[in-house]
Amino acid sequence: MKIGYGGDYNAEQWPAPVWDQDHKLFGEAHIDTLTVGVFTWGLTQPGPDVYDFTVLDRIVERAAAEGRRICLATGTGAHPAWLAKRHPEVTRTDFEGRKHRYGQRHNSCPSSPVFRRLSTEMARRLAQRYGGNPAVIAWHVGNEYGGACYCDLCADGFRGWLRRRYGTLEALNAAWYTTFWSHTFTGWDQIEPPSALTEHWRGPDHTAFPGITLDYLRFMSDAMLANYRDEKAAIRESDPHTPVTTNFMGLYRPIDYHRWAPHLDFASWDNYPPDDRSPARMALAHDLIRGLKDGQPFWLMEQTPSVTACRDVNPLKRPGVMRLWSWQAVAHGADAVLFFQMRAGRGASEKYHGAVIGHAGRADTRVFREVAALGAELSALGGVTLGARTPARVALLFDWDSWWALEISDGPSRLVRYLDVVTAYHRALWTLGADLDVIGVTAPLDDYDVVVAPALHMVKGDLADRLSAVAFRGGSVLTTFLSGRVDENDNAFLTDVPGPLGTLLGIRVDEWDAREPVYVNRVRVGDATFQSRLLFELVLPQGAEVVGRYEEDWYAGTAAITRNDFGAGHGWYVGAGLDCAGVTWVVRQVLRRHGLLGPYPDLGEVETAVRVAPDGSRLLFILNHGSSPVDLPVVPAGEGLLPGDPRTLEPYGVRIVNMIA
Ligand code: GLA
Ligand code: ZN
Repeated sequence: MKIGYGGDYNAEQWPAPVWDQDHKLFGEAHIDTLTVGVFTWGLTQPGPDVYDFTVLDRIVERAAAEGRRICLATGTGAHPAWLAKRHPEVTRTDFEGRKHRYGQRHNSCPSSPVFRRLSTEMARRLAQRYGGNPAVIAWHVGNEYGGACYCDLCADGFRGWLRRRYGTLEALNAAWYTTFWSHTFTGWDQIEPPSALTEHWRGPDHTAFPGITLDYLRFMSDAMLANYRDEKAAIRESDPHTPVTTNFMGLYRPIDYHRWAPHLDFASWDNYPPDDRSPARMALAHDLIRGLKDGQPFWLMEQTPSVTACRDVNPLKRPGVMRLWSWQAVAHGADAVLFFQMRAGRGASEKYHGAVIGHAGRADTRVFREVAALGAELSALGGVTLGARTPARVALLFDWDSWWALEISDGPSRLVRYLDVVTAYHRALWTLGADLDVIGVTAPLDDYDVVVAPALHMVKGDLADRLSAVAFRGGSVLTTFLSGRVDENDNAFLTDVPGPLGTLLGIRVDEWDAREPVYVNRVRVGDATFQSRLLFELVLPQGAEVVGRYEEDWYAGTAAITRNDFGAGHGWYVGAGLDCAGVTWVVRQVLRRHGLLGPYPDLGEVETAVRVAPDGSRLLFILNHGSSPVDLPVVPAGEGLLPGDPRTLEPYGVRIVNMIA
């Protein structure tokens, strides 16, 4: 066994002679895994009562005959045209209330009984047909679930979801705080999905009733999860064992991946970073996906070997970058590295999307050569990383409810975005080389010395107690402005800010100031001064020690950063929107106390990550994200598993060191 290598293979777009060429080239590139059938519903069900698996049979048989492993998709990410014509209910109604007609993909109403019945039936038939095929090693349900629908079927579904959640209108009215603006609901049928026609103005983030909007986000995520679960259940009727997944999108707001995770047998995701300057953000997404299944390895289901097509500007991966990012995925827990796509489509919107094999079918391209070289490297490495785990002592909390609640809130500032805060703290942890798990707010915290919870806006259940327990036993908890503000219904705590986190943090916040980005308030920390922007909480220590103070404005001299002794550990609070250097300074203090700085905390573009293999091998990954060579100040002892000078990393260079214990 080795790291799976391959990707989306849409062979149905091509005549059979092309398949011969494809499989020959796959062999040359060490491609062993093909994702098949992602958009084949129109092919496999050409009419209401007609199923036709002839082409899919051939694709599967051919791949199996070539010895490749198949990740078989259910193909329900795009419904057929006849279906939309015959049953207009399957298309979505958008936020503005426009009922869509046939077109696009990822566009089925999750509440449509017809869509649910027929997508489930497709999964059922596929599993009956291919479930016993030993070449089929995984199921890929749907594709990139997301978006939202606001149709009448979804409105009904929402009402049912609310009945199950609240039981009575009295409880719902209390949760939504409906005495505000005369909103008391006296019948379930009065409740509408929050859209441009109802509670929203100036777009999806401006809602009169955040509680309603928050519940609709939760409902929509659950409604699509129900679609996924329907298909999975249908697969399980005839295929009890083959693992089932769906491809996630990393840091994707509309779907609460933590709520989905228990229903996946393994996690997988598609890595299309917004630019080529965000290695930390990719690391964060990898760690988030790994954290979904308690650290279990995941699949990188898609990445482009070269370029995307859907962006306004689609930069080309520089020589070496595809390899580097592939190894980065492995460094963070991937057991498979797959591409979109194996062969470039001839027409439609993705004809310029990068592919392992281009339109001309050549092997002598730079991209194919790099894909083949990486394939050879993965084959040479074998299975040493398979099943390996990340030995993290640091946890970063990530919470969709906090994300949603923070961003749909009126005030204090629309410019404070959840991901900006999370990525700022994550970037510091990443730069300083801490191995970390990204986990949800209900995950156990017992294994961590440091818990970082940026913008933990909503505090639910026993989370505050569990964070306190981390500090009490000697750990460090670090959180920021806009934390501890609301309960699970998005209602404010009737206590001092930061609500249930107050005791752990030893502070109180009565006032906060939000400013345009041009306004800077400096924060002094010992001899250093950092800039802060956007949000400035006036932190009143209630036992906490002041670490940093504002330098400007009428609140100059008041606390911006505090640290509270709590039990044997600390509760840190950063009340200001500190710049990158400031955040890094704070995070450095925290990591240093626990001896958790990585081997190269001062080499900005060098990333490290550790994985511990099932046989106990400790594998250190060293990745140079820069375009210049880097001399390593400390050369790790151990056996290099990839070729290259152990002391100097070439641009985009990668080393894996099996460290001597
Ligand atoms: C997504 C989809 C693929 C393809 C790629 C293009 O990840 O899942 O079908 O459209 O984007 O980048
Ligand atoms: Zn709908």
